[in-house]
Amino acid sequence: METVKKTEQLYEGKAKRVYATANPDYCIVSYKDDATAFNGLKKGTIAGKGAINNRVSNYLMQMLEQNGIPTHFVMECNERETVVKKVSIVPLEVIVRNIAAGSLAKRLGLEEGTKLKRPVLEFCYKNDALGDPMVNTYHILAMEFATQEELDLICQYSFKINDVLSEYLKAVNIELIDFKLEFGKTADGTILLADEISPDTCRFWDSVSGQKLDKDRFRRDLGGVEDAYQEVLKRLLGE
Ligand code: TMP
Repeated sequence: METVKKTEQLYEGKAKRVYATANPDYCIVSYKDDATAFNGLKKGTIAGKGAINNRVSNYLMQMLEQNGIPTHFVMECNERETVVKKVSIVPLEVIVRNIAAGSLAKRLGLEEGTKLKRPVLEFCYKNDALGDPMVNTYHILAMEFATQEELDLICQYSFKINDVLSEYLKAVNIELIDFKLEFGKTADGTILLADEISPDTCRFWDSVSGQKLDKDRFRRDLGGVEDAYQEVLKRLLGE
């Protein structure tokens, strides 16, 4: 494929910048080392995070593509930049949970680590000013965040991603506790997995020791943040 170059910056989020390219169907995402938690209240930097998340997310998205999930991934440009398909983001954070942790443990008074009898799917409306409030399918349809058909596909993809990813990670001694997905829509209306899948957006626990290998180390000041991200990269890509 020909080289794709960044033109103007379209958007800057908390962890990534998005640039236009000369090709109207493609954007370039650039991963930052910046880390935030609690809707931006806690701020910091995780050295090397951008490069690690870029590699990990691209690796997992390619693996998911091979398992029948359409994603935005096109081509890795360099350490922290990737060409992706241009999409409009469906304004939902789709959370899949296998084990109670984080906000679910708190909301339902469950001990962190409690295995759920079946996977739980949650939706939040992606809106920083409102603190990403939880919504259900009725809200989503009434507010036209997605159509019924789009939502059906998003749920189907999310459960399939959970099955494929959980199985894949098990082989490298990582337990997939929960994770957050975002989907996008191309100009022709195709729904694709977008955003990223990384230690920023998933809870990864070591299957043997239970050690946290994800952003909870930053959120909860547990130390060893960079090492945990590096460990995930190493287990997946051998680097
Ligand atoms: P929670 O337990 O805080 O609701 O988080 C559930 C999962 O979603 C967890 O894997 C972390 C991820 N997540 C994000 O990627 N972005 C966010 O803004 C939040 C709140 C959670």
